[in-house]
Amino acid sequence: MPGRLEGKIAIVTGGGSGFGAGIAQKFVSEGARVLIADLSEENGSKIAQSLNCSFARADVTKRADWEALLQTALDTFGALDIVVNNAGSTYHNKPTETVTDDEFDMVMNVNVKSIYLSSSVLVPYFLKNQRKGSFIQISSTAALRPRPGLTWYNASKGAVSTATKTMAVEYGPKGIRFNAICPVVGSTALTHLFIGKPDTEENRAGFVSTIPLGRPSTPADIANATCYLASDEAEFITGVDLEVDGGRCV
Ligand SMILES: NC(=O)c1ccc[n+]([C@@H]2O[C@H](COP(=O)([O-])OP(=O)(O)OC[C@H]3O[C@@H](n4cnc5c(N)ncnc54)[C@H](O)[C@@H]3O)[C@@H](O)[C@H]2O)c1
Repeated sequence: MPGRLEGKIAIVTGGGSGFGAGIAQKFVSEGARVLIADLSEENGSKIAQSLNCSFARADVTKRADWEALLQTALDTFGALDIVVNNAGSTYHNKPTETVTDDEFDMVMNVNVKSIYLSSSVLVPYFLKNQRKGSFIQISSTAALRPRPGLTWYNASKGAVSTATKTMAVEYGPKGIRFNAICPVVGSTALTHLFIGKPDTEENRAGFVSTIPLGRPSTPADIANATCYLASDEAEFITGVDLEVDGGRCV
């Protein structure tokens, strides 16, 4: 049986940890050739080695790193089909009036400027080659049902979802799809920052109590949804915010 992503070539940012590592694993298991891009050389190369896929160290807030990523994908695989903008960050949950300029700049750069740069550098490749493409951004339920203490993280994800819908309508006629996934809280390296305390079952309970299906999201949940949107099964789907949230946003 061919995989659901057989023959496709994908860049997965932030693939060295959490949801991104889960997405890279699912993509490889479905036949995709994957280039993991991560700021962490150690984590990214470890995951890539375990999955037998490629790795490039990249800072998604830097144009030159995106240009190098495209070149690496073309040199290694000869083409590009799928871009998963998963790398993201947050500051510690806290009263909004205490957020610093550096924290604000950090979330906007990592979460929003990365989407701007990925489209600015990669869309011309798809247009020039008249190649269909699928961009999937990992947004958040924070874009749709914001929680207190995370104002500028929430706003950054709102920007991710809105930019995604805009590009879906703009580039639909060219065959390039743009979709966003909105995960509810999971258990990753970022979770202690979202909940403002150590990531234990007890400390997560307040967040989880608002999820009808009664558990946090897992990397496999996010990876399965991302695989669907990346695959040809979703060829008529563009501009959606797909909530992977156990019913949290209802
Ligand atoms: N964990 C959650 O509860 C949750 C919920 C909703 C959405 N999200 C989103 O999911 C995405 C993945 O986060 P995660 O929870 O797996 O966190 P994580 O910290 O486990 O993984 C994030 C990865 O991104 C990489 N990264 C950070 N800044 C980077 C940069 N400038 N350039 C390249 N790589 C960079 C990190 O090195 C790390 O490997 C993020 O966009 C996050 O906002 C997470």
